[in-house]
Amino acid sequence: MSRPLKPLFKQEYNDEISNRSINPVFSDVARAYLSRRRFLQMGAVAGAAVAFPTLLKSPAAWAVETALARPSSLGFTSIEVSTDDTVRVPEGYIVRPFYRWGDAVGLKGNLPEFKTDGSNTTDEQAAQAGMHHDGMAWFSLPPGGTDPNHGLLAMNHEYIDNGLLFKDGVANWSLDKVRKGQNAMGISVIEVKKEGDNWTVVRPSEFARRITVNTPMSLTGPAKNNALMKTADDPQGESVLGTMQNCANGLTPWGTYLTCEENWSDIFVKKAAPNTLEKRYGISDSDDSYRWNEVDPRFSVDATPNEPNRFGWVVEIDPYNPSSTPRKHTALGRFKHEGAAITLAADKRVVAYMGDDQKFEYIYKFISKNQYDASLRDAAMDLLSEGTLYVAKFNDDGSGTWLPLIYGQSGLDETKGFTSQGELLIKTRLAADAVGATKMDRPEWIAVDSHATGSVYCTLTNNSDRGKEGKAPVDAANPRANNVYGHIIHWTEENGDPASTAFTWDILVLGGNPSGLDEKTKGSMKGAEFGSADGLSFDHRGVLWIQTDVSSSTINKKAYEGMGNNQMLATVPGTNEYRRFLTGPCGCEITGIAFTPDNRTLFINIQHPGEPGDDISDPANPTAVSTWPDGDKNSRPRSSTVVIVKADGGIIGS
Ligand code: FEO
Ligand code: CA
Ligand code: CA
Repeated sequence: MSRPLKPLFKQEYNDEISNRSINPVFSDVARAYLSRRRFLQMGAVAGAAVAFPTLLKSPAAWAVETALARPSSLGFTSIEVSTDDTVRVPEGYIVRPFYRWGDAVGLKGNLPEFKTDGSNTTDEQAAQAGMHHDGMAWFSLPPGGTDPNHGLLAMNHEYIDNGLLFKDGVANWSLDKVRKGQNAMGISVIEVKKEGDNWTVVRPSEFARRITVNTPMSLTGPAKNNALMKTADDPQGESVLGTMQNCANGLTPWGTYLTCEENWSDIFVKKAAPNTLEKRYGISDSDDSYRWNEVDPRFSVDATPNEPNRFGWVVEIDPYNPSSTPRKHTALGRFKHEGAAITLAADKRVVAYMGDDQKFEYIYKFISKNQYDASLRDAAMDLLSEGTLYVAKFNDDGSGTWLPLIYGQSGLDETKGFTSQGELLIKTRLAADAVGATKMDRPEWIAVDSHATGSVYCTLTNNSDRGKEGKAPVDAANPRANNVYGHIIHWTEENGDPASTAFTWDILVLGGNPSGLDEKTKGSMKGAEFGSADGLSFDHRGVLWIQTDVSSSTINKKAYEGMGNNQMLATVPGTNEYRRFLTGPCGCEITGIAFTPDNRTLFINIQHPGEPGDDISDPANPTAVSTWPDGDKNSRPRSSTVVIVKADGGIIGS
């Protein structure tokens, strides 16, 4: 049942919180770094006054006319860390696995049952949820509406575990096994509905769709038709088969889903010596995890040299049109894309913030050439095809600059190996190197604060190589050597306008247990005992939600600081108060987040429960680490979307 939306607090209080949260305070953390470097006179720059209008309507939530004001504090009691093999939430909340790997996606006449021993066929997998759910977004039905009880969820299936996917693991390796793996990656679109108190996946549904590594998609932007994009199967360099390693996501104001290709280079193998470009993107001479290159020549770079250039992009999908062709937007650059956080500039140009998740990589921003007109959805579909890509430079004094990556400017020309804008975008990392961007500690998710325009947050998940000999030293924005638990950085754009090319920044919080034994890896905030923040999102009230991904290998180490299984926390910006909302089962990470427009239902993804560490699962003993969600030793751990509601039907977090 739909409930009316009511502001929880009066507007003045909301403004006060918003403004407090976006005032650059230049944290003790960065100051300590500067003190070490004897730069003590920087407060004036960091404290520069900027006017920030308050924005009450989230531009990232299509058609969601939310009137929800930012609360002054959270309404739930923080739960303890946990090592239990289950999902825990605060008292008064109900959590339920909802869409598990192997559940039918809802294709008409094609609803295969999950087989617990990994014996589902390749074709069945194409009609079932993929593995390793990740980024996710909500789209109300009917299109353009705001119904909080009926909609679509689009979500990524980031990667696969061959030990779980097949009854006999990697034995008897074949093209059919590779095709099943390819069908277990990509994207699901499912129709979901709340009837009474119960959420269900609608099956069959005219919207249900699986997009896989073999789904045809088209290219847009400057790299389309570039010589480096052409292959024997696509001599024009304009259409690609599939998307893969889809990590985090984006949501456009015109109601499309953005899926972002992250660790695609892991799948390509080149036996011959790699060239500069291949080396810069990490293409290696072996792959024990996927082994697609052994039987599918598309993933052997020796056989198909330009195929890797066709991955590493942001892909736009219209979830409302199941027969639409997804488009890879080359204007947004090519790297190991984590996500794409979309907002609108003051003049309604579209801005996308994006992280490149690898040690010492960069944070990027794309600004569209044209402006968004909410009445012209078809025209909006082309906005991400043309614009300017920037990369961030974080100065040690708390200021920052967005450096444009434009062919012919700043020395980005033939002398640096770029002959066109298209080639520059295919080689985005090399262009960012050339202009002197700041090497960050693995940029993961980015979240734009819709209650404070121009205020942006980014998780820097970890970087154990920071400060090592031969690697980049610490700097103010990445202030810890051997940064095993990461931190969250935030910045405010000049004049509160996302299209500005200048900003001021600060560190929000350092990961780690503040009561930890090791001074160098301690967290900075009581109540925020977490490691490796990864997922990050604002809800419709302006509460910031943080999801963690400490690797199983770190959790398994004896020195791990007792922060338990991966978890999700919430904070109201400006309050410095963090509360733990959820803890996950053993071996999982918490990722993907979508709120219904009334903020009364929360969907999140539990990824890779039961992950044993750095290797694939043992098909003979798949439940060695976790039996979640089935609780059955004879089943397999299954990544799942879970649905969370308040027992009294109230607003999540209230
Ligand atoms: Fe797919 Fe960077 O996490
Ligand atoms: Ca991630
Ligand atoms: Ca991660």
